[in-house]
Amino acid sequence: MSRQIIVGNWKMNGTRQDTQVLVEALVNGLPASAPDVVICPPFTQLALVQPALASSPICLGAQDCHKDVSGAHTGDISAPMLSELGVSYVILGHSERRQEHGELDETVREKAVAATKAGLTPIICIGETEDQRESGEHEDVLGWQIKGSLPDGFAGIVAYEPIWAIGTGLAATTDQIAQTMAFLRAELVRQFGEAGKAIKILYGGSVNAGNAVSVLSIPEVAGALVGGASLKADAFLSIVSAAS
Ligand code: G3P
Repeated sequence: MSRQIIVGNWKMNGTRQDTQVLVEALVNGLPASAPDVVICPPFTQLALVQPALASSPICLGAQDCHKDVSGAHTGDISAPMLSELGVSYVILGHSERRQEHGELDETVREKAVAATKAGLTPIICIGETEDQRESGEHEDVLGWQIKGSLPDGFAGIVAYEPIWAIGTGLAATTDQIAQTMAFLRAELVRQFGEAGKAIKILYGGSVNAGNAVSVLSIPEVAGALVGGASLKADAFLSIVSAAS
């Protein structure tokens, strides 16, 4: 199996001071045999973090991008702008963006095309609500999200983040993750053929230092997308150490 990947999504958190302290602790504390590690600060901190990572294997990611290269899109940031800042990954279609900004699968797909053109690796988030899981619709929902959000020839990463597990402290159980991962792999192969076998699938939703070993040892889990615990250096480094 290839190296796992641990991605920290800092969301809308961090003053310049917090950011400097956190990045320094991560750079200095990274274990020698670390998996691939990506941190995704808010846009405003990217230029601050980039030089601090210059001599570190930690990669820089962003939390969104626009589908266009430039133009009249107030408040947006394009993929080439991120690339120019040394960003190499971008999270797309996070449930918070789908909910708070009305992003549809089609929007996410267009953004993924733009990200890939700019040389970024898209990390496309999918996930069901609690109601959808309880009514047994989750596989249909995830299948549609894959079909709608991933462009043809997709060569990025998928992050499975059940919405009910995000920020709640209640991660999905190992059985739920294992079953859903197996479903997602089958669906990726059904929709993308042989190429679907190579798409990495991350789990996200209340991953922390205590559950990282069990989550990361589930078959098909290629890594984790971490929110809250990525803001604490010790917790994030423990998750990194639990990966292979
Ligand atoms: O993108 C990561 C995220 O949504 C999970 O957040 O705080 O549950 O780890 P958290």
